Amino acid sequence: MKILYFGDVVGRSGRDILIGQLPKIRERLSPDFIVVNGENAAGGFGITEKIAEEFFSAGTDCVVLGNHSFDQKEIMPVLEKDARILRPVNYPKDTPGRGFSALKTRRGKTILVVQVMARLFMDPLDDPFAAVEKLLAGNPLGKKYDAILVDIHGEITSEKMSMGHFCDGRVSMVVGSHTHVPTADAQIFPGGTA
Ligand SMILES: [Fe+2]
Ligand SMILES: [Fe+2]
Repeated sequence: MKILYFGDVVGRSGRDILIGQLPKIRERLSPDFIVVNGENAAGGFGITEKIAEEFFSAGTDCVVLGNHSFDQKEIMPVLEKDARILRPVNYPKDTPGRGFSALKTRRGKTILVVQVMARLFMDPLDDPFAAVEKLLAGNPLGKKYDAILVDIHGEITSEKMSMGHFCDGRVSMVVGSHTHVPTADAQIFPGGTA
């Protein structure tokens, strides 16, 4: 399965380049599923319903957010009703929206997308590892879900890399977001997780 992930799309310039390039990228790579981190899509702060719709119309299948999830208050009811937009799963109980979602790929497979917040130099939230473990326990890859993607949103590469090792062999892909800096550390772990 081919999954494309685009990390934090910032403001109009970020949206324009992504939305402008997506048709060509889709034609060239024929992805099964496209995920966009849109937490900074509205002028750097959060996302609006209109912007989320622009991402979806351009072929995005899932939008993940992060610590800027609620910068635009109007997105709260959208997060409640649209399972394609995710805020961190380890936010306090009763936070609007959801942190994981089982969605259909273009070729009819089921993918579980999880977004979780890291904690080092970030907000004091529930343990991200425990939150992911709770979702993975009893859900071996390839049974209920054909693919599982975990987006870990945080400052520190070591914490994000730890999530990669923690999930190795149990999910398809772990990606890090939030810092807006490419780290060139893409790899496939021994258990097969990218
Ligand atoms: Fe960001
Ligand atoms: Fe962030």
